[in-house]
Amino acid sequence: MIVPYFLVLFLAVSFAGPEKPANALIETLLGQQEENIFKQGQAHYQKYCIACHAASNIMVASPKFGDKADWSARLASMKTLKALAQSANIGKGAMPAKGLCTECKEKDLQAAILYMMRGQE
Ligand code: HEC
Repeated sequence: MIVPYFLVLFLAVSFAGPEKPANALIETLLGQQEENIFKQGQAHYQKYCIACHAASNIMVASPKFGDKADWSARLASMKTLKALAQSANIGKGAMPAKGLCTECKEKDLQAAILYMMRGQE
């Protein structure tokens, strides 16, 4: 009886383990933001980004709303939020420049990204 318990515990720890440091990066970033940034980001997300970044949109290979592991990987490879926003500004792969938000400045893209990273409606 004791063996299976430890096996489950071991599996849980080994699967949960590798994600933690990466997610910590995002949690730190999110923790540094003012609440109104998320409000601004929400407006643009709901108007533009949601079309491709909604969690339910499995047809598009985009980092999904509230998927911290997904966004952590993007953040880790781009190094900073600013770099991610610059990438969104230019466009990448199947993502059009500014995610079609023509009125978006880079700071608006940053806010929308933060909102997607946090993932609370
Ligand atoms: C037409 C679909 C579409 C829309 C609309 C869209 N995106 Fe994307 N987005 C994508 C796809 C697809 C990717 C993955 C691109 C890749 O890695 O090749 C992506 C990736 C990203 C990335 C990661 C870029 C990187 O360098 O890793 C960011 C940041 C991003 N989107 C932000 C936004 C924001 C902010 C909005 C709304 C203002 C938005 N997107 C709207 C499809 C879209």
